Amino acid sequence: MPAKYFKTNGHLLACGGSSCQQRGADLLYLALQRALDNQKLLYYKTGGSVRLTRSGCLGACSYGPTLACYRERAGQLEQAWYEAVDFPLALRVAQAVHEEAELPQERRYGPADS
Ligand code: FES
Repeated sequence: MPAKYFKTNGHLLACGGSSCQQRGADLLYLALQRALDNQKLLYYKTGGSVRLTRSGCLGACSYGPTLACYRERAGQLEQAWYEAVDFPLALRVAQAVHEEAELPQERRYGPADS
């Protein structure tokens, strides 16, 4: 029997690689996780609309902490990657995912539309 799939509004991957760790990625992840948990937005604990996963290296080590966002929008996969992410930016990205709003453009890199 296949695993059951629960739809969310999007998936955030917060880099936990060593270079990003040296730039505060551990604290960033914990702060974001706690904030989303407190707002009942975190999928894993409360069935909220945002998946947050700590990932391995996202391949932009010199620009960390990095954050990747994947979501479906208008039937298309949208991906957004962010560099030099701090807590306020990470929270804005997560809130945009929750609200199904436009993603922030600041410190965004990589494909604008996919
Ligand atoms: S360690 Fe974070 S992008 Fe490589």
